[in-house]
Amino acid sequence: MNNIKDAADLSRRLFLSRGLKSTSALMLGAAALSSRLATAQESVTAQASVTAQASATEQLSQAVTGEDYWQMVREQFSFPDSTVPMNAANLCPSFRSVAEQVAFLTADIDQDCSFNNRSKFSGLLENSRALVAAQLNVSADDIALVRNTSEANNIISNGLELSAADDVIIWDENHPTNHVAWQVRAARFGFKVVTVATPADLRDPQQLLDAFVTQFTDRTRVLAITHVSNVSGIRLPVAELVQAAKARGIYVHVDGAQTWGAMALDLAALGMDSFTASAHKWYMGPREVGLLYIKSDQHARIWPGVVASGWGSGAETRQTGARKFESLGQRDDAALAALSVAARIHDSIGAARIEQRIVQLSQHLKSSVVGLGLPLVTPMDAALSFGVVVVQTPAGQGGPLSNRLYEEFGIAGAGTGGLRLCPGIYNTLAHVDRAVAGIKQLMA
Ligand SMILES: Cc1ncc(COP(=O)(O)O)c(C=O)c1O
Repeated sequence: MNNIKDAADLSRRLFLSRGLKSTSALMLGAAALSSRLATAQESVTAQASVTAQASATEQLSQAVTGEDYWQMVREQFSFPDSTVPMNAANLCPSFRSVAEQVAFLTADIDQDCSFNNRSKFSGLLENSRALVAAQLNVSADDIALVRNTSEANNIISNGLELSAADDVIIWDENHPTNHVAWQVRAARFGFKVVTVATPADLRDPQQLLDAFVTQFTDRTRVLAITHVSNVSGIRLPVAELVQAAKARGIYVHVDGAQTWGAMALDLAALGMDSFTASAHKWYMGPREVGLLYIKSDQHARIWPGVVASGWGSGAETRQTGARKFESLGQRDDAALAALSVAARIHDSIGAARIEQRIVQLSQHLKSSVVGLGLPLVTPMDAALSFGVVVVQTPAGQGGPLSNRLYEEFGIAGAGTGGLRLCPGIYNTLAHVDRAVAGIKQLMA
């Protein structure tokens, strides 16, 4: 099997041999539909199958609506109802067809790990890149597929040249990989890190904007922020922050670990210089695949942290665009290829529909918790929050409460910032109501 079409044919045979597990034709859902259409898409008749996929998906979404539709989506995941994941901020289950594609391609490599057989993977990687780039409305040349958000954030903090005359502004709610990592580089290169705190009594995105903009000075070179905080669920007004920073020539880096795959994103319109995320979170893709977007005019400025085979033979890489950041040695080719399956499922469901569902689930969760008379860390206002919901707990009780919610109610959250619950599109309203019933029993 030594080309992409062979991989697609084998994938199709595997899919057909498994048969449909669902009870009705419609229950095959976006995942299987995409999987079948995708095999065609990877063949030479790409344009025709894209059209076929669009119309089939249209029919699917017209035929099944509301909770029936989301139940169908839930069926695309293998977890049992006894252990319900609700911690998308940390790790999501992969769509079943993504996991199967990873397993299938991994087995293929194990059966024949020759260069000849593996040569198809560069095309499959490019396919993943192209699909992801199109969703984000950016060029494929501006996307590197790395290992995770942690690595991608560190590529930026390690790769930008900064001196003792420079300031980097960060948010105090940034993940350590976009926070401590800057402090480590500051200790090495001498620049200053300015940390911005979330304003107390937060009511309006303008307060967040002002908190950062008032720190801008002639020394400010970089603004490194987080789209949605994993510790509070607070959402920054990223478009406005980018606009204000770019007006002063400041480089803007955005950690999008809590938005990629959950929010409809147009990175070209948002205008940041770099954006990072993980496929194993809200994107529900393969594990250990990360997204690093870097705007084309910044590629040359950012040094790679790792130079490995594939880079080229001199200081100038032979790779085009952001691909230079993928020079990381031997990779998990199966996972990188299977990202395309997740991408096609996202296209089938639609980014706007996913975003609306995430808002619906998180707002339902928050209003139910407030209805119990319990305080939230996360703002109720959807303009200040998104999919990450943190319930305030007595000091040190977030972890124990999260453990009890899992053991006694089968809901897997986290003890981060309080009791953190982040429902994904694989969660039904009934899952959220079960979490609320557990919270009521444990906390109210
Ligand atoms: C905002 C944010 N950035 C980065 C990360 C790190 O993600 P990963 O472990 O996939 O690199 C996380 C993980 O929770 C996060 O919430």
